[in-house]
Amino acid sequence: MTKTAKPFMKNRSLMKIRAKLPSVTYQVIIKRSMFKEIKTADPCVMVIFGATGDLTKRKLFPALYNLAKDDFLPHKFSIVGVGRQEMSSIEFRSQIIGNFREFIPKGVDEKLIKWFEERIYYTGGDFNDDKKLFGDLKELLGEVTAEHQIPDNYFFYLATPPDLFANVTQKIVRNGLGKEENGCWRRFIYEKPFGHDLDSAKKLNADLLRIIKERQIYRIDHYLGKETVQNILVFRFGNSIFEPIWNRNFVDHVQITVAEKLGVEQRGGYYDSAGALRDMIPNHILQLVTLTAMEPPVSFEADSVRNEQAKILQAIQPFSPGDVMNHAVRGQYGDGEIDGEHVPGYRIEEKVSPHSNTETFAALRLSIENWRWADVPFYVRTGKRMPAKHSSIIIQFKRAPFMLFRDTSIERLTTNRIVIHIQPDEGITLHFGAKVPGPIVNMGPVDMDFNYLDHFGEQASTGYERLLFDCMIGDATLFQRADMVEAGWRIVTPALDVWKALPARDFPNYPAGSWGPADADELLSRDGRAWKNLTH
Ligand code: BG6
Repeated sequence: MTKTAKPFMKNRSLMKIRAKLPSVTYQVIIKRSMFKEIKTADPCVMVIFGATGDLTKRKLFPALYNLAKDDFLPHKFSIVGVGRQEMSSIEFRSQIIGNFREFIPKGVDEKLIKWFEERIYYTGGDFNDDKKLFGDLKELLGEVTAEHQIPDNYFFYLATPPDLFANVTQKIVRNGLGKEENGCWRRFIYEKPFGHDLDSAKKLNADLLRIIKERQIYRIDHYLGKETVQNILVFRFGNSIFEPIWNRNFVDHVQITVAEKLGVEQRGGYYDSAGALRDMIPNHILQLVTLTAMEPPVSFEADSVRNEQAKILQAIQPFSPGDVMNHAVRGQYGDGEIDGEHVPGYRIEEKVSPHSNTETFAALRLSIENWRWADVPFYVRTGKRMPAKHSSIIIQFKRAPFMLFRDTSIERLTTNRIVIHIQPDEGITLHFGAKVPGPIVNMGPVDMDFNYLDHFGEQASTGYERLLFDCMIGDATLFQRADMVEAGWRIVTPALDVWKALPARDFPNYPAGSWGPADADELLSRDGRAWKNLTH
């Protein structure tokens, strides 16, 4: 155990608790060869639709690189990019190699770059042109599989807007590329957002199921690929001391924050028609809510976990229009300052309407009506251009009776909380009160910190690695089922409808670099609570 000399400062790094074994024991590089029981991915081809987009360069290729580095990709593997732009495979390759150098923070391994160079291809054209683009794709796949001796196992990654999902899938299938035969598999990953509201999600599910089978469908949410998110289950159900207090008898409320410093970057076109609520809440944030609130599953099989998550989604009380006014807050950033630099307001971002009424911040007060959580509010918020990139789940426990501490000033009376830090510094903090050294019994707040980096060393991760690997081995545990996607939309659709019918009149209502609009603070202060604005 290491302690710093200055206890009782409000700083979560002031007392670090380390595991009994020296932390060097855990400074391991995790490689596939260390997990003999892990299935090996079959030789296959990944086909990315939307290959020239932001997601492909920032996340998908860096994730593939990390997988290859740690030996998780099959040796017989290829990637075929498909985009609207016309360009040769050589040009695409050189773009991707450039992106590797830009988005792999610690520098690239030239041998790996060469490995990728040998197996990246591209074909471009109009996604509506059944014969030309999809015919070209079929021909290219034939060449690629022959050259690399890969059986016809394909997974198609649709990194496109959702209105293209059914159409593109239909064309893939119509060109004979979707049928599983001769022991070969065909899988389809759909990037979020899966639809834009409840009706569109239902229609999309129905349309896809007319074309392919549910077992071929992988609805991705990259938050489920994040280590700390998966660790919520291990933390809760692999330890015996937390679960007994993880309920309404002990927990006062839960706060979930996903704050981003970035604005909308090059994604103004998409974002201005989506907004913060659609972009983050029915998917990423509800995943965090369900994993925090769910009952223990009977096993870690895909459906056991997903059944428990689905029950929470069903138990979240749908908002009436009146609830939307009281329990949902929206905001849009104006210009402001982040890290000492001036940043422009949302309405003057590229591809954003100068009169846009799209929200860049959303906060909700959710109620989970079941035995474990009745009367325990779950406050969730997310926003762009906030002071820090920080995502966390805070389990705030009820206060102890404080009569014994009459000499302690009110701000030192400590309540307990567990903070699950999701990013950027993954870890867990336990906040509690301890005696301030001295002749009188006086209390002060301290933190016990567990930090992933200290114990397990650095693991480069985008969140997509695990999910891409799971798709290659056919494991859908960390993907969303149709009913879960629909339940997520069911929860947010009343707010979407009310906000659409009553456009905000006070936008922009928070300056870039702040923690969101005043109404978001009021959402909690009305209940006698306050957000914990953590920055690390
Ligand atoms: C995406 C959203 O799904 O998640 C983006 O569309 C958001 O708007 C991103 O920036 C956040 O992901 P992460 O992994 O950086 O928290």
